[in-house]
Amino acid sequence: MNLNPDDFMSLMEDRTNFSDGDKILLNKHADWGLAIAPTMANHFYKYLGRDVEMSAILNDKEGRMHRLRETFVQWFHEMFTGMDNWGTAYAERRWRIGLVHVQIGIGPQHVVPAMATVVHEVGKQLKIDGQPEELKDALSRICMIDLAFIEQAYVEVSSAAVLKETGWTEGLFRRLIATGAGSM
Ligand code: HEM
Repeated sequence: MNLNPDDFMSLMEDRTNFSDGDKILLNKHADWGLAIAPTMANHFYKYLGRDVEMSAILNDKEGRMHRLRETFVQWFHEMFTGMDNWGTAYAERRWRIGLVHVQIGIGPQHVVPAMATVVHEVGKQLKIDGQPEELKDALSRICMIDLAFIEQAYVEVSSAAVLKETGWTEGLFRRLIATGAGSM
């Protein structure tokens, strides 16, 4: 259960049909992405702030909100630039973001609707600014890849922790999960 970020990135690109055309389109609109990033951050944190649990996490530490706004802008812009053409640096960065969220205890129930908010708001902004419909598709695909990294980190870290603590084999662990799911 040792995830290789590069391999995972390639797999997700295939699964979401994230194409070279998408990459070119995103690169072409990187300045627009950076320009709208603060507005997207506003929508994002307003959404998270409405939830008692997530709001408590956001305001748990001094200066966290401020730091988060900056990291959000950077994260959002990176979806357009692809950092190193969506290569190793991009994949490792996304994996790290996943790990940070697992450490804080942010699970799928928080992250999935949060990413849906990004996709929804970016779609609205795209229309307002008269940007092409294909850009929305490209952005949705890269958002889903980024989301998959965060979700997968949760699974990988939980599984690795159980295996380490119990000494179980991966096969036994998978059988227990299947049996558990079957009995629910
Ligand atoms: C669309 C989903 C999300 C994205 C793309 C995202 C993005 C990021 C990024 C880029 C970082 C910085 C990681 C680093 O330090 O390397 C971060 C950290 C963090 N995120 Fe998220 N996030 C998402 C969802 C959430 C949700 C749902 C919460 C719930 C409250 C949350 C709370 C936090 C917190 C508390 C930190 C750590 C801040 C600190 O440095 O103290 N995030 N996030």
